[in-house]
Amino acid sequence: MLQTHLRSHSCGELSLADVGKEVALTGWVQKIRELGGMTFIDLRDRYGITQLIIQDENSKSLGLELPVQKIAREFVILAKGIVRERENKNKNLATGEIEIEVKELKLLDDSALPPFTIEDKSDGGEELRMKYRYLDLRRGPLQRNIQLRHRLAQESRAYLSSLEFLEIETPFLIKSTPEGARDFVVPSRMNPGEFYALPQSPQTFKQLLMLSGFDRYFQIVKCFRDEDLRADRQPEFTQIDCEMAFVDRNDVMRTFEGLVRNLFKKIKNIDLPEFPVMTYNEAMSKYGNDKPDIRFGMTFKELNHLVKGKNFNVFDDAELIVGINAENCGEFTRKQLDELTEFVKKPQVGGKGLVYVKCNEDGTFKSSVDKFYGQDDLKSWAAEFNAKAGDLLLIVSGDKQKTRSVLSELRLEIAGRLDLKNTDVFMPLWVIDFPLLEWNEESARYFAMHHPFTAPLELNPDLTDPGKLIANAYDMVINGVEIGGGSIRIHNEQLQKKMFEILGFSDEEAKEQFGFLMNAFKYGAPPHGGIAFGFDRLCAMFGGQESIRDFIAFPKNNSGRDVMLDAPSAISNEQMNELSIKLNKADNE
Ligand code: AMO
Repeated sequence: MLQTHLRSHSCGELSLADVGKEVALTGWVQKIRELGGMTFIDLRDRYGITQLIIQDENSKSLGLELPVQKIAREFVILAKGIVRERENKNKNLATGEIEIEVKELKLLDDSALPPFTIEDKSDGGEELRMKYRYLDLRRGPLQRNIQLRHRLAQESRAYLSSLEFLEIETPFLIKSTPEGARDFVVPSRMNPGEFYALPQSPQTFKQLLMLSGFDRYFQIVKCFRDEDLRADRQPEFTQIDCEMAFVDRNDVMRTFEGLVRNLFKKIKNIDLPEFPVMTYNEAMSKYGNDKPDIRFGMTFKELNHLVKGKNFNVFDDAELIVGINAENCGEFTRKQLDELTEFVKKPQVGGKGLVYVKCNEDGTFKSSVDKFYGQDDLKSWAAEFNAKAGDLLLIVSGDKQKTRSVLSELRLEIAGRLDLKNTDVFMPLWVIDFPLLEWNEESARYFAMHHPFTAPLELNPDLTDPGKLIANAYDMVINGVEIGGGSIRIHNEQLQKKMFEILGFSDEEAKEQFGFLMNAFKYGAPPHGGIAFGFDRLCAMFGGQESIRDFIAFPKNNSGRDVMLDAPSAISNEQMNELSIKLNKADNE
């Protein structure tokens, strides 16, 4: 199947069954070494590594234009020869039982010395490997990641197609859609002074497709968001974007739970049980986070009713006092506890301090607040956590939102230290019933928590107190990662108008930005809803990694640059003129 006019087989497929066959292999030289009158070459391609062996006395008759000794790492060669059984078998290699006795060798291309070693563990730094990404991609781990990505895409396509979803492309040069991030914009030559925006997602298009009657749509599609990068964020990333008509929330959740379970079965042979469903409020109060990692416990216990009124001002003045039980950590040393306090106080975490209670083996307690609380108090706290001897309670306090987020970070930190984040275990769940809107103090207005097209949960919502509205939305979370999110949409022109009003759009602004959608809603819109999965995140999750970068063939670095292309870059004055872009001189000086 892999046969071409140059090669008969790949470097990953020959076995004892092929002994005696005449074969032709092509690939890159991974390693070359001389030993006892013979030269060994590890020849590598996408499919594996096969050992070539050249008897030195034959090296002149190989037909090679240069001495065998001149062949070096990453040269591209064609080797013809006979498959032989190996004397020293290599059990770690799929082709480890055979080798090729080379009769003819041809150089297809030589190679400069690669800037880093092209092996599973490379000696190259991040920046260097990004600059030579095409070489980094030759390495085994990246080859496997990209192949995994392909399989996930194919299985997703097959599953969705089997359920009548149609893959439909939507444009990249569009008008901006508000999804919370900044747009990347593209100047239009033919319309001087005007810009397209690259889509942050195909949201409005997929809704229009429902209106057009394509009642099930999907697309594996690039999205563009000009936002700060993190391990799980790239400025251009890929979604499996989906939409369905004539559905309610349960239909959508059931369908896409099916997709993800099918992927786990097909790719990992894991049968996942039905996904639990958790409300946003429960996630926030138990995990301090709307994407809880439920692989481990350490759920939050609120202590307000137990700790107030004992002259400990920090707790007395706090809106929320909340803690976790780090089981069997009662032996933590002073140094370890100090480290945890330092962690909590890191600016990125933003906590003020940490109170601890050690549950001693003799049934007594030792805490950092012994001055204010007696043994009976501490005993009642421990009871609240169901703590046993040898456990460690970690407690933080302050305003509700911040305190929850601090404890959530601490919980994940402890889980990391205790090795509880097992990458072979997958614990998905749905989070539902998010608030529809978020109040922003700075701009003194509401923002849509998901996006402005999300329907409220109630059919006839009371819009007089918008802050109380619950969204008909759902996020799929796996091991603490938001893998996907979506909602049932508003499909009524009047309600959508009202929503824009609540979000602070004037009539004109709403018309200018979303006139096309509101207009469309006049012409018979089916009830509809959908979801989008972060495809890169899904790949990283299946690959057991937190960073999505090595699951993208050509990603951007932390400052959003492509260091291989050196992009973004300046363009010529001529191009600028053509695009009617005038450099602001003052800015440029
Ligand atoms: P949302 O903005 O939640 O929803 O995005 C859907 C999923 O895309 C992934 N994701 C990202 N992955 C990598 N890099 C990024 N910068 C990035 N941003 C988001 C996340 C997220 O869950 N149109 C709606 C979907 C809908 O309502 O149907 C949307 O885009 O995994």
